[in-house]
Amino acid sequence: MATNEKIQVDSVTGQTTTGHEWDGIRELNTPLPRWWLWTFYACILFSIGYWVVYPAWPGISGFTHGLLGQSSRGDVAVDVAAIQAQRAVTEAGLKDATVDQIAADKKLLGLALAHGKAAFAEDCAPCHGAGGQGGKGYRNLTNEDWLWGGKLDDILQTVTHGIRDYTDKDTRQSAMPAFGAMGVLKSDEIKQVVSYVRTLSKLPPEAGVDVAAGQKIFADNCAVCHGDDGKGKREFGSANLTDGLQLYGGDIKDLTYTVTNARNSTMPAWGARLDPVTLKTLAVFVHNLGAGE
Ligand code: HEC
Ligand code: HEC
Repeated sequence: MATNEKIQVDSVTGQTTTGHEWDGIRELNTPLPRWWLWTFYACILFSIGYWVVYPAWPGISGFTHGLLGQSSRGDVAVDVAAIQAQRAVTEAGLKDATVDQIAADKKLLGLALAHGKAAFAEDCAPCHGAGGQGGKGYRNLTNEDWLWGGKLDDILQTVTHGIRDYTDKDTRQSAMPAFGAMGVLKSDEIKQVVSYVRTLSKLPPEAGVDVAAGQKIFADNCAVCHGDDGKGKREFGSANLTDGLQLYGGDIKDLTYTVTNARNSTMPAWGARLDPVTLKTLAVFVHNLGAGE
């Protein structure tokens, strides 16, 4: 490597060289543009100012807080306080109104639906589905097949105190007996009543089974709770058996299981877990899913 420290003018570009030369290759002297340099210096000045004013440097047991004392956590606290203040104003209306008043007032209804939708997604959707359409064993909340009533107050009562949630003394109670497990009905009697129940929903009975005998068993054992017509009775929260048997399934296998062991599923009581405004907005939201009475 040979260096020749002589500054020359490059004949091709007309620019001066730095004077460095390696194997006949010379380096052009191209200084940084002025604007770039000034921007660079300005950035350095800005960052020094920033370090002084804002929290910047970590230390051993903390960090430099800066002259302004700004902190992201403090900013969030201010924002949260502002949202809470705003929410208190809008929720004051919901707090004082009954569910019926909320449903009748367009502005409150809009608020309640927005609030109820968010709460439903969080607390109810895991069992009842995102749209409230339910699933096997979990009530569909969008059809008119209410076990416990579909009026706003009924729904509020169900949501607040639950169904068979015995941690709440006001829970809705009723228990279908486990006819097979308790030995009330023998297996061929269960066969017969199951086939009769299928005919209530216009499903074919099991071939060769005595449906008339099943009808008699139904009248003696089931009509008390499900009604003579099988349409269910609200005071027992018993299922409507004429609507296609969606709750636990209408297959012979499903029905045999239901009559043998009973299901008696639990809907949790939310009264102790959610505030009164949220409970009301949930009732309004569920009522509004399409089948409110
Ligand atoms: C752990 C599962 C579970 C969760 C969570 C749950 N439910 Fe239920 N829910 C049920 C079950 C099971 C039933 C049916 C109980 C029965 O057999 O009568 C039910 C029934 C209901 C009913 C009665 C429907 C009728 O036919 O009368 C309503 C209303 C209801 N749920 C609303 C809600 C709301 C609102 C939430 C959210 C706050 C919620 N549920 C959360 C399991 C759940
Ligand atoms: C003490 C009241 C009571 C009696 C008596 C009773 N049931 Fe029920 N039945 C209920 C209740 C309550 C439910 C809803 C249970 C649940 O959701 O867990 C139900 C649910 C059902 C279901 C589920 C419906 C579905 O949509 O999947 C079937 C089927 C049924 N009963 C059949 C019968 C038959 C058949 C008898 C008579 C042998 C009978 N029940 C007697 C209270 C009763």
